[in-house]
Amino acid sequence: MSNTATLATTSPLSDRVQAMNESATIAMAKKCRELIAKGFDVINLSFGEPDFQTPQYIKDAAKKALDDGYTFYTPVPGIPELRQAICDKFKRDNQLEYLPTQIVVSTGAKQSLANAVLSLVNPGDEVIVFSPYWVSYEEMVKLAEGTTVPLVGTLENDYKVTAEQLEAAITERTKLVMYSSPCNPTGSVFSREELGAIAAVLARHPHVYALADEIYEYINFVGEHVSLAQFPEVKDRVITVNGFSKGYAMTGWRLGYLAARPDIASACDKMQSQITSGTCSIAQRAGVAALNGGRASADEMVAAYRRRRDLVLDIVKDIPGLKTPIPSGAFYIFPEVSAFFGRTAPGGSTINNATDLAMYLLNDALVSAVSGEAFGAPDCIRFSTAAADEKLVEAFRRVKESLAKL
Ligand SMILES: Cc1ncc(COP(=O)(O)O)c(C=O)c1O
Repeated sequence: MSNTATLATTSPLSDRVQAMNESATIAMAKKCRELIAKGFDVINLSFGEPDFQTPQYIKDAAKKALDDGYTFYTPVPGIPELRQAICDKFKRDNQLEYLPTQIVVSTGAKQSLANAVLSLVNPGDEVIVFSPYWVSYEEMVKLAEGTTVPLVGTLENDYKVTAEQLEAAITERTKLVMYSSPCNPTGSVFSREELGAIAAVLARHPHVYALADEIYEYINFVGEHVSLAQFPEVKDRVITVNGFSKGYAMTGWRLGYLAARPDIASACDKMQSQITSGTCSIAQRAGVAALNGGRASADEMVAAYRRRRDLVLDIVKDIPGLKTPIPSGAFYIFPEVSAFFGRTAPGGSTINNATDLAMYLLNDALVSAVSGEAFGAPDCIRFSTAAADEKLVEAFRRVKESLAKL
């Protein structure tokens, strides 16, 4: 075989990137945009994004930052004012004491999670991921050459993994436990009692660390947000991740952070220093204003998310075949849809799984949702409820009509 032939058939891409899946939510949004470009009236409920503008006082702080000349590199883990504002927030909202040196500000909570996974997980380490889980967890663990061990919560328990399940899953190779509360995609929120029981399990296994993703902290309809780090027996082994994308409607600003024990925070700082450096100087100034401006704007948005959740639940309760737990937080509904598997669509194709159903709904109802497959829940579909009330009403009217044809 000639050299040319060898080159033509061998991919130059690394095994690492070839093994990685594209984000299912981003892939669905791409398909949705293609249909919209062809003139179809698609309602996009596949994105995990607030439909609100960033509050004006935060935008004003960013404009001022530009005018004041904050256009230079920042310290890698964030400007001192923001790290202090984050410490103040942890104290105010979560009764947690951290020093600014324990805070690492990043380009979104996504990077905070990746920094922590890459700083803690060695090849072959097991990472227990509470399932259903956010799509990127599994890919981050893969990137670190760890092994994901999904631990599946039951529908009856609102998909929340129990302390007993965790105890049974921990092995000598377990390094890390990852979960989100409020959870994307299920909207479930762990109570103090449930997290206390999980903390008690972790306390018995000092080789296991926990990555608590609290990005939806403010979007909570049940009241109390509990941080795993509030349990003193495990605080040193908990890395808490949070950010500005959801609570302050700042997805495009790319601003998130983590709090951790000093050695872990330093490792994340080092990891980030070689990949992105400090995040945007202007976004960081805006972040200081956001945190110091209190929660009033977030509370207004939460009132709208709650109203929309109730509106949607009221419609879906009358759609036969959907089993939908009531979300306690975040802005999704996550119905179990297996009743439709094996049914035939009007064109003659069979709906074999949630991915087929999501595709059918996109083509027939012109509503885009994401298959639960990428969230570790192949019997479910995720619909975002972060859209205007009238859009939601129209979307679920169409979904109901399309499902009735199966
Ligand atoms: C559970 C969860 N964690 C983290 C993120 C990432 O947030 P950020 O925009 O801050 O990177 C998201 C965004 O959708 C999410 O849903």
